[in-house]
Amino acid sequence: MGMGYVGLPTALQLHSSGRRVLGVDISTRRLDAINSEDVDLIPRDRVRLKEALNDPWAFVMSSAAESIADAAAILICVPTPVNEHLLPDLNALVLACQSVVKVASKSQTLILTSTTYVGCTNDLLLKPLADRGLTVGRDIFVAFAPERINPGDSKIHHNDVPRVVGGATPACMSNAVEVLADCSKLLHPVSSLEAAEMTKLFENTFRAVNISLANEFADISGHLDLDINEVIDAAATKPYGFMPFRPGPGIGGHCIPCDPHYLLWQLRAERVTAPMIETAMALVASRPSRVVERAAQVLATQGKTLAGASVLIVGVAYKPGVADVRESPALEIFSRLHNSGAAVAFTDCMIDRIDVHGTMVDVLRDPREAKWDLVVVHTIHSDEDVSWLTDDVPVLDTTYRLSRESRRYTL
Ligand SMILES: NC(=O)c1ccc[n+]([C@@H]2O[C@H](COP(=O)([O-])OP(=O)(O)OC[C@H]3O[C@@H](n4cnc5c(N)ncnc54)[C@H](O)[C@@H]3O)[C@@H](O)[C@H]2O)c1
Repeated sequence: MGMGYVGLPTALQLHSSGRRVLGVDISTRRLDAINSEDVDLIPRDRVRLKEALNDPWAFVMSSAAESIADAAAILICVPTPVNEHLLPDLNALVLACQSVVKVASKSQTLILTSTTYVGCTNDLLLKPLADRGLTVGRDIFVAFAPERINPGDSKIHHNDVPRVVGGATPACMSNAVEVLADCSKLLHPVSSLEAAEMTKLFENTFRAVNISLANEFADISGHLDLDINEVIDAAATKPYGFMPFRPGPGIGGHCIPCDPHYLLWQLRAERVTAPMIETAMALVASRPSRVVERAAQVLATQGKTLAGASVLIVGVAYKPGVADVRESPALEIFSRLHNSGAAVAFTDCMIDRIDVHGTMVDVLRDPREAKWDLVVVHTIHSDEDVSWLTDDVPVLDTTYRLSRESRRYTL
């Protein structure tokens, strides 16, 4: 259930391992995009999708949730975003679990894979199944196995990534392991649903905190006139106790900007504080406004202001290699620059249009034709041509990946 960035590659993996797969998604637009192969996938999955679409007996898609009634196993892969107040938006997950519980039948295995708070599988599956008179571990089997896919990554195959799994009972665990063995070569069982839920929250919070630390070190290095990447590369030569994280314009995507808020929201109800996580999330959230402040400073060096300046953003995806702008810092940067009076455009070789607070903005395919007061480099896809960014153009490199030349600035 849910054929998005997680569900579709999972369905393709299960299909290629010989399972019959039914992919359910409430969005007919998404299903049409999959059918017409107009989806953001790594090359290996593109090939798999073609094969799957040519195998209608074993790969079926539907928008009807009831069609899952006959499935041996159901994997729930729906989105778990946050709202504008950074509070968990559980609507999709609640609806998906309700529709699963409604048609769930004896001997099925239900595996929740969406990132969520600790205790969610119990609240949204175990309790409602018990209310329907189904005994978990005997009549029906439930597990939580958080997803770890890294969209756009062709180097580390999805099924080479170990999969953590927690079962509601030992029988639930063994049924879930049988299904997940077709998704991942290595499974890591943990003792409970809650331990598996917490594992995912820890992983992504760990990343958020470390990205925030890398940003702080980048700022400090700037003050001390040091190259942050040289420092990180040198620290990364240590074979234990250090893992390189890179600074940037903020955090984007459907995971790191959202998941820690599921934990913080839950802790608030328990009156428990987590000051390090709170601080890290506040700092990374303030990063896009720092980009805009810095843009104003760079323009000031040329005697210009944001008001009236022509500014180009290079790369609006939240990271290289994906056509995904969910939570992308570029959207906030775009909107803040625009609200400060700049004429803003964007180029991105993977994205045609973006929605900036309800206004659709089309990509500029050839930015070389215009003259820019400032270019803000936000994401560099491997196919993005940045060779035209010569010394003639002032560049604010928020990726810290371009070489340092006279008219290149970092944050
Ligand atoms: N995208 C990632 O990099 C990533 C990585 C690891 C884990 N996750 C987690 O996986 C989950 C899914 O993320 P995603 O990126 O695949 O989301 P997505 O938005 O790409 O896809 C979710 C799909 O679910 C569909 N959907 C929503 N409600 C539904 C319902 N009731 N029934 C059926 N379909 C429904 C949507 O139409 C959408 O196509 C989230 O919890 C996320 O945190 C995502």
